[in-house]
Amino acid sequence: MSASVFVTRAIPEAGFAVLRAAGLTLEVGQEDPDLPLDDAALVAGVRRHPVLLCQLTDRVGRDVLAANPALLGVAQMAVGFDNIDIEAARALGIPVGTTPGVLTEATADLTLALLLAVARRVVEGHRYVERGNWKAWGPQLLLGSGVGPAPDGAKKTLGIVGFGRIGAAVARRALGFGMRVVAWTRTPARVASVPGVEHADLDALLRTSDFVSLHVPRNEETHRLIDAARLASMKPGAYLINTARGTVVDESALVEALAAGHLRGAGLDVFEAEPEVHPGLLGNDRVVLLPHLGSATREVRDRMAVMAAENAVAFARGEPCPHPLG
Ligand code: NAP
Ligand code: GLV
Repeated sequence: MSASVFVTRAIPEAGFAVLRAAGLTLEVGQEDPDLPLDDAALVAGVRRHPVLLCQLTDRVGRDVLAANPALLGVAQMAVGFDNIDIEAARALGIPVGTTPGVLTEATADLTLALLLAVARRVVEGHRYVERGNWKAWGPQLLLGSGVGPAPDGAKKTLGIVGFGRIGAAVARRALGFGMRVVAWTRTPARVASVPGVEHADLDALLRTSDFVSLHVPRNEETHRLIDAARLASMKPGAYLINTARGTVVDESALVEALAAGHLRGAGLDVFEAEPEVHPGLLGNDRVVLLPHLGSATREVRDRMAVMAAENAVAFARGEPCPHPLG
């Protein structure tokens, strides 16, 4: 089979340039970069090409992987790979590559943006001005929660759940804001990589943190890790920030915790059934919602496209994957 790549969605030009420079034939499944490709079109594309360059919205199950016995590799343009049946890929001997590391700082930035936005009521303030409600500076107008130290020096605590690349990058930023940072992760030794961060067990972290930010990957162990009981165990008035994956949180239980006033707010970039959003999260001033924008900067998306393309080229040539699962 001649070297060709099925690119499920139009990617930034920098990625296409790498594929073309390598002399690969391309087929793009979905030219509109804002729309996903349906399952049937994905399987049909894989049947026609020995290399797949895909997105986190593509469900690459065993059926897709097995659709082409000549499939040489799967190059995903994302760091998360929960949409791919990795066990099946291993069993079928199909290598999978991702884009680890390059989006760490951008996703950490967005996490802090959400944290600041919910704590300081940024979106509410924007709407207030835009709707013409602002009459004068007000001593009690739209008061939020401090993020940096209070006037008496008291620090707010950020609890980081999952201390990998992005968790650590969020910790560095939060320390810069003067927050106390505690982290839970399965390998406590990781936490020592950022001086000033304390390790805590998950229950203690949830009980004591003013802000909880999630940074674990999606898998069976992390499915609804933050369930109704854990939400109830959070400090009253705390905020939940999720830029990991929607399924890490029980979204209905989150809606209830917000409605009951137990949690003061939430900043969410990811959702259980995205792009669908639980109706209880819509129109709620205490919630800031984003359409999965963690890595969405021009520079980062260009680099992600290049990395995914480099993986695709390597698969087509039978060379080792330069950016393997990280
Ligand atoms: P990473 O470096 O692999 O960090 C994840 C950390 O989670 C690991 O270091 C791991 O540390 C910890 N962890 C705790 N429980 C785990 C479990 N049951 N299984 C696996 N790991 C577990 O990944 P990252 O680059 O920081 O990215 C984290 C996640 O963020 C990605 O998987 C992705 O889902 C999400 N993400 C979202 C966006 C966005 O656009 N919103 C952008 C990039 C990434 P221990 O081994 O110590 O537990
Ligand atoms: C984004 O969510 C990613 O996993 O890259």
